[in-house]
Amino acid sequence: MKASLNGIEMFWMEEGRGTPLVLLHGFPLSCAMWGPQLVHFSRNYRVIAPDLRGFGKTSLQPDQISTMELIADDIVALLDHLKLERAVIVGLSMGGYIALALYRKYPERVQALVLCDTKAEADNEEARAGRYNLIEEVREKGNSVVAEAMLPRLFAPNTYRHQQETVAQVAGLIERNNPAGIIAASAGLAERPDSSGLLPEIKVPALVIVGKDDAVTPPEGARQMAQQIPDWQFSIIPNAGHLSNLENSNFFNQALESFLRSTCDD
Ligand code: MLT
Repeated sequence: MKASLNGIEMFWMEEGRGTPLVLLHGFPLSCAMWGPQLVHFSRNYRVIAPDLRGFGKTSLQPDQISTMELIADDIVALLDHLKLERAVIVGLSMGGYIALALYRKYPERVQALVLCDTKAEADNEEARAGRYNLIEEVREKGNSVVAEAMLPRLFAPNTYRHQQETVAQVAGLIERNNPAGIIAASAGLAERPDSSGLLPEIKVPALVIVGKDDAVTPPEGARQMAQQIPDWQFSIIPNAGHLSNLENSNFFNQALESFLRSTCDD
């Protein structure tokens, strides 16, 4: 589906009926990373998976940084467009940073939060410098440098070696993206504020999910993040790295489903 929202043309996949689940993808991917969740959860929920600003089939505005807050505004514009007061917000990695920005700015629009393979902290100096370096490289050489740099870190070593179809699918998502979208989001990621102080203020149920072999946002940090949220649940996904929803989708779906049953179903 497609609509003009918040100054951009937004594309999203939508299927099913019931409590709305909004799935926010990671960097530098697209809503296509949520394929296994769209199939599974659309049986009992209304699943809405947008391409975030500058990714997939969603446009961006030239020379505008895609801050986490601006992307959160896009998502709330989508909720308004769909006439949804509240939704369960599920975000993976960058999607998790956006979910926290959305909760900070629009807590009344969030029914529950699911933070997957993500963290609350801002970038340190080294990570920020790495983002600006990547921006220069994408300007010079295009998206293939991003795929080369990121792919091995996105997956558990075992997935990277043995789930070649999944790795190729993710490489394709990265390579097909608009380099301008990757550049705008990299700057937004570099400049995102620390959300740690927000965690104890979260008043909705939250599930933190992390792949056991996540090298980008490891389980210990994820557990500590979860424990700062008053109403928290925590799940470690075995045989999975940073893209836990794709690498072990069965286990991921079970963890999310049991959280939804315990918190959102009437
Ligand atoms: C992601 O998967 O969204 C990225 O790894 C997030 C990041 O670079 O911090």
